[in-house]
Amino acid sequence: MNKIEIACLPGDGVGIEVMASAKQVLQKAADMHGGVQFSMTDFPWGSDHYIETGAMMPEDGIERLKEFDAVFLGAVGNPAVVPDHISLWGMLIKIRRELELSLNVRPARLIKGIQSPLRSPKDFDLIVVRENSEGEYSEAGGVIHNGQNEIAVQNGIFTRKATERAMRYAFELARTRGKKVTSATKSNGIVHSMPFWDRVFQETAKDYPDIETSSAHIDALSAFFVTKPESFDVIVASNLFGDILTDIGSAVMGSIGIAPSANLNVEGTYPSMFEPVHGSAPDIAGQGKANPIGQIWTAKMMLDHLGYTDLGQAILDATEEVTESGIKTADIQGTSSTEEVTQAILSTLQKKG
Ligand code: NAD
Ligand code: IPM
Ligand code: MN
Repeated sequence: MNKIEIACLPGDGVGIEVMASAKQVLQKAADMHGGVQFSMTDFPWGSDHYIETGAMMPEDGIERLKEFDAVFLGAVGNPAVVPDHISLWGMLIKIRRELELSLNVRPARLIKGIQSPLRSPKDFDLIVVRENSEGEYSEAGGVIHNGQNEIAVQNGIFTRKATERAMRYAFELARTRGKKVTSATKSNGIVHSMPFWDRVFQETAKDYPDIETSSAHIDALSAFFVTKPESFDVIVASNLFGDILTDIGSAVMGSIGIAPSANLNVEGTYPSMFEPVHGSAPDIAGQGKANPIGQIWTAKMMLDHLGYTDLGQAILDATEEVTESGIKTADIQGTSSTEEVTQAILSTLQKKG
């Protein structure tokens, strides 16, 4: 029996609710498989922990996470109580940086029974590869002048290493799929880092002559995500551009509540971390309304990464069977609760088992 050690960080708000759902689904999948055991250890870190201790997570938190095969995270943030810059730098971004999770991989596609807001959506299936360690999210910046004429500065940092790493991953991924990579750029000379980004893209592309390439300015690309998402396969984007594109991708799927993501340590030095695209949704937290599908689909991405693709597929198939049957939360035009959707997915898995 293979034992997989998973660190579960529910975090804040709906993170706690959707984590409880996804853990049950993971447990059921393991029971069905018979040959694998998921040992899930909970770490109740987050905004409540901050209020109690003054820190989002303990000082040795990162070292503890390094012992696991994977980290599974809900969402971080309770802005009414803890300012976002404290909660995010103290936990979410800290984990991404210190576990060297250099890529954030975020798929978007139509799911059976979930209506896209597009009038007549064509079947789309795209993956955004988001650079996850630097770019517009660099630590270089701050308020440099106080007083009435305050000045805040944010430096974008684009290294050859991280830029090329994201692009190579995108090209390799495209080889397993539709063989197209689109680069999200803004190279019309306005943003100084982007001509560099384009040059690295063109140079890297030379090693992948079998892959069709294109570049699009981020503003136009954002519009194309709405008007023709079916034209994309793999999109490689900087940290902020990828962040924005993936919320648009979630929206055209039907809800941010269903979108998954994988934060990958591509070198394999530390565990990778898996979290849905959505946040802690304070507006609906504690009401049993949260859509658990983003977290459950994220569990599938974690299983794929750990080599249990059959289990991951079973989870997603069961989920689609449930959405197709109409058992859905309110964000995707249903009337069911988090718990009802979870139970339906569990019994579908059981039935198929
Ligand atoms: P959000 O994703 O939490 O919410 C945006 C909208 O989507 C809200 O209307 C919310 O109700 C809805 N929504 C989100 N998840 C849902 C789900 N599972 N089911 C149904 N509806 C869902 O984004 P926000 O409001 O900008 O941020 C709220 C907090 O979350 C902030 O503190 C923010 O910093 C944090 N955040 C954390 C993460 C993360 O931990 N990965 C990601 C994004 C935002
Ligand atoms: C996401 C979130 C985070 C990001 C925030 C909460 C820092 O929006 O995971 O998409 O911008 O990366
Ligand atoms: Mn985001």
